[in-house]
Amino acid sequence: MATQEDNLKDIIGHAKEYGFVFPSSEIYDGLSATYDYGQLGAELKNNIKEYWWKAMVHMHENIVGLDAAIFMAPQTWKASGHVDAFNDPLIDNKDSKKRYRADVLVEDHIEKIRAKIDKDVAKGLKRFGDDFNEAEFRATNPNVLRRQKQIDEIEDRMRDALENERLDDMKQLIEDLEIACPLSGSKNWTDVKQFNLMFSTELGSVSGESAKIYLRPETAQGIFVNYLNVQKSGRMKIPFGIAQIGKAFRNEIVARQFIFRMREFEQMEMQFFVRPGEEMKWYEYWKEFRMTWHNALGFDQNAYRFHDHIKLAHYANAAADIEFKFPMGFKELEGIHSRTDFDLKQHEEHSGKKLRYFDPEINESYVPYVVETSIGLDRMFLAVLSQSYTSETLEDGSNRIVLSIPPALAPYKVAVMPLTKKDGLPEKARAIIDDLKIDFNCQYDEKDSIGKRYRRQDAIGTPYAVTVDHQTLEDNTVTIRDRDTMEQERVAIEELPRIIDAKVSMRKLLKK
Ligand code: GAP
Repeated sequence: MATQEDNLKDIIGHAKEYGFVFPSSEIYDGLSATYDYGQLGAELKNNIKEYWWKAMVHMHENIVGLDAAIFMAPQTWKASGHVDAFNDPLIDNKDSKKRYRADVLVEDHIEKIRAKIDKDVAKGLKRFGDDFNEAEFRATNPNVLRRQKQIDEIEDRMRDALENERLDDMKQLIEDLEIACPLSGSKNWTDVKQFNLMFSTELGSVSGESAKIYLRPETAQGIFVNYLNVQKSGRMKIPFGIAQIGKAFRNEIVARQFIFRMREFEQMEMQFFVRPGEEMKWYEYWKEFRMTWHNALGFDQNAYRFHDHIKLAHYANAAADIEFKFPMGFKELEGIHSRTDFDLKQHEEHSGKKLRYFDPEINESYVPYVVETSIGLDRMFLAVLSQSYTSETLEDGSNRIVLSIPPALAPYKVAVMPLTKKDGLPEKARAIIDDLKIDFNCQYDEKDSIGKRYRRQDAIGTPYAVTVDHQTLEDNTVTIRDRDTMEQERVAIEELPRIIDAKVSMRKLLKK
């Protein structure tokens, strides 16, 4: 039976074979945890960005965009708390010499207990069928209650250790839970230590502390330091938001699982500035809005869940993740954070500049509170790829690999193929592309049998394949094949833009 790891391996292999993702600088044997996006990866990434940007910026009158520099004045990171507190608690296994995040080891342990609860629930469902009341079962079954109590106790201990920086307690928790190194199976652990995740470099030709600058670990601070520039120049009224897409860098120790955790990655972040006291209302609003954005893509709704943070970041008073069922299990895809007025107040203090907003409706001036939505573009890319990757056995017993990418995100929208390379069919196919390419990304393909060409397009997720044959030359009709149903239909060439647009337009996603 194929394991989840096999599934991830297949996806990585497929992504490389078809030009979605390559290991970075591969001719030098690659650089760990860095990847390059190939010709199709770049298209898919751009389409995800467009979907996000349209939904967040163009569909909201009170949200505007920004493109801030990656380098920022070093005081930014002192003010934001990243110099002092952007750390991961790390622990090494003395036998395997592998380094782990201590909190991730504990969370993986909790996940195993949760899986046992889910197994109990599944058994109950099997036994009682339609009469099964899951909520009641979870609230009363002694096994479930015992396991839930275990989880609560572990979470309490971890929260206490992390919030109070008691790293010895964190190690004790790992020992008490008898957590073993997944690699060596040994429980021979070092002490837990904090490790700062920011990359630093030097500005200009001077070296030393005074010239030290950082590669931004989040795009959000570029928004904070520009908040008044945007508010004033854009005449924005609270509540309003600023959105940004850009690179971020973190010296992740445990960088693994393909593009899930990288040292250089891209974020799509939005900071929503609100009146103090109204942040929880907006926090709930953005949680729901962001989940709706994901669900509009039409993937399995059970592949998403909310997870409330135990360890709140140094700036937050509430935070939740949208977790996604990746091939390696449920993991964080996006964060929604109520960041209070922490960042703006810190920047006021460190810069000596007032960052207040005068609210004409209540005649008061204040430092706004902020609710943030933050999603990793690369993780979203992996989510789309892993949910879309399907291996199907067809009626004739043959196998096809299809990427059922939501059509609006697909790299190519249509492939146009002449049935043969002669009789004027290639010229006709190119004339069709010349018209379609203004609105849709098209691919021309004349090599191999038509069956092989269909498979190739299925494998890269192209929603439509149009075939030009001899009849086309007589009556200006073509066959159009649907990637998902594999059904073919004969239609007039002039109908193509309407048919393709109905399927691939982002309009449908944005209206949901
Ligand atoms: N501004 C808030 C912030 O940066 P975060 O939870 O640390 O919050 C937000 O990161 C999102 O960025 C995550 O949900 C994840 O999708 C993405 N992300 C974080 N670290 C990443 C990494 N090393 N590789 C890829 N994506 C990452």
